[in-house]
Amino acid sequence: RKRTAILISGRGSNMTALIAAAMNPDYPAEIALVLSNRPDAKGLEKAAEVGIATAVIDHREYPGDRQAFEKAIDTVLKEHKIELVALAGFMRILTPLLVNAWSGRMINIHPALLPCFRGLATHERALEEGVKLHGATVHYVSAEMDDGPIIIQGAVPVLDSDTPETLAARVLEVEHKIYPKALELVARGKTKVTGARVLSGGDEPDSAELI
Ligand code: GAR
Repeated sequence: RKRTAILISGRGSNMTALIAAAMNPDYPAEIALVLSNRPDAKGLEKAAEVGIATAVIDHREYPGDRQAFEKAIDTVLKEHKIELVALAGFMRILTPLLVNAWSGRMINIHPALLPCFRGLATHERALEEGVKLHGATVHYVSAEMDDGPIIIQGAVPVLDSDTPETLAARVLEVEHKIYPKALELVARGKTKVTGARVLSGGDEPDSAELI
C-alpha cells in the first residue's frame, strides 16, 4: 500500500472520504499522514480521532517565504516516508519547488469541471454563467494553478433553483465518490500521463459520471 499524505486547510470532508476508502485492506493506498497549514483545521481532529498521524506547517510562520514553507512541508513528508500526496481543500498555491519535487505523485481535487472555473468561488461563477452541468475534477498537480492532467471528473446537473450552497452540496457528493477512485487508480499505477492527458486503462466507464 502506498504511503499517502493528505494536505488540508479546513473541514476535511474529502479527507474523510479518502480515509474511509483506505480502511479497506484491499485499497492500494494507506493514509499515513494528514498535514494542515492551519492549526485550527477541523479535519486534523477527525484524522487524529482515527489514529492517523497529523502535522501542522503554519504558513503564517513563513511570512513572504513560500520556499521555506514548502521546504518544511517536504521535510515532514519525507520524515513520514510519504509516496503520494493528495491535496484536499488545501488552500495555498504551491510553487514549482514542491510541485516539481512531487511531479506525478501529487493530485488535487477542484470543485469544477476543469478547465472551466479555475480558482475560487466556482459554484457562484457556474451559476452566473448559466452552465447546465457542473462538477468536480481530480487532476495531477502541475505548476499552474488548477491545471495538470485530468484523472477523473464527475458531473452534476445545475438546477434553476440552485444557490451556490445547494450546488456546492451536490458537487461535494460527487467529490467524495471520485476522489477515492482517482487515488486508487494512481496508487495502483493505472494512470498513464501522455502530454496533458491521463489514460486510465480504458476500464473506467465512469470517468465522467452524471448523477
Ligand atoms: C472541496 O470542495 C474542494 O474541492 C475545494 O475545497 C473544498 C474542501 O472541502 N478545493 C478547492 O477549492 C481547491 N482550490 P473539504 O475540506 O470538506 O474536503
